Amino acid sequence: MDFQGRTICITGASRGIGFALCEAFARRGAATLIAAGRSRGELPDRMGQARIAFVEVDLSDPAGSGRLAQAVAEAHGDCSVLVNNAGTQEIVDCVAPDAGEAAGRIAREIQLNFITPVTLGLHLMPVLLRHREAAICNITSGLALAPKQSAPVYCATKAGLSNHTRALRYQAQARAPNVKVIEALPPLVDTDMTRGRGSGKLSPEACAEQIVEGMRRNRPVIDVGKTRLLRATLRLSPALGYRILREA
Ligand SMILES: NC(=O)c1ccc[n+]([C@@H]2O[C@H](COP(=O)([O-])OP(=O)(O)OC[C@H]3O[C@@H](n4cnc5c(N)ncnc54)[C@H](OP(=O)(O)O)[C@@H]3O)[C@@H](O)[C@H]2O)c1
Repeated sequence: MDFQGRTICITGASRGIGFALCEAFARRGAATLIAAGRSRGELPDRMGQARIAFVEVDLSDPAGSGRLAQAVAEAHGDCSVLVNNAGTQEIVDCVAPDAGEAAGRIAREIQLNFITPVTLGLHLMPVLLRHREAAICNITSGLALAPKQSAPVYCATKAGLSNHTRALRYQAQARAPNVKVIEALPPLVDTDMTRGRGSGKLSPEACAEQIVEGMRRNRPVIDVGKTRLLRATLRLSPALGYRILREA
């Protein structure tokens, strides 16, 4: 898939992997980058030749995906690529006596990480179907393959989105082959999400570069960096793979 002249919608583009994805698409000639999130952050008006169109939206709000899709359909009907990138990770002790107090933030996490990417894909489908070649890329995680104990809901949302992405790909292959359905699984990446923990982290720029290059090569599943090693380990020794990720 070629990105020259395209209009591409990226959620969670104000920082981290989303910001780096904007830069990577701009380097490949994208014309307009629709950056969706709660704040514009450090996003400039342009990146190279690409214009940045910011849409302010809280995607942990159940109405957020509908609002974003409407804004895209009204002002950017030529959008042909959706990257569901926005996400959050809640560290939750589900067996603590006060575990119930986390219910509200967990509901927002499930909305942002799982329900919103799914419904945004549904709402934007009429726009994507118009193009000879279009794509939805869902950013999941290596943690979709094996969970870590400190973020059980995060890992569940990523595993759920991973399975949804595969089933959506089956449907598209059968009845809408112009819409490519892609999953990208980053390893530990050096962003605000992982601040103060982990080592040997991949830079967001290197992560984004691998994702966009994988999309360019029409890869349906993009195992970024060490995720490739994790998948191989889980195939050879599931117990070892689960043990490595458990304390990640
Ligand atoms: N970092 C890692 O190690 C890692 C590994 C695997 C997968 N991932 C996945 O990669 C994606 C990006 O992660 P990241 O590390 O780049 O995260 P990040 O640095 O924390 O950035 C998150 C982005 O999502 C936006 N966002 C957060 N809450 C939002 C909301 N309620 N509504 C709209 N936008 C919201 C943020 O913008 P605002 O706060 O301005 O709204 C920001 O642009 C996520 O899906 C994450 O799960 C990350």
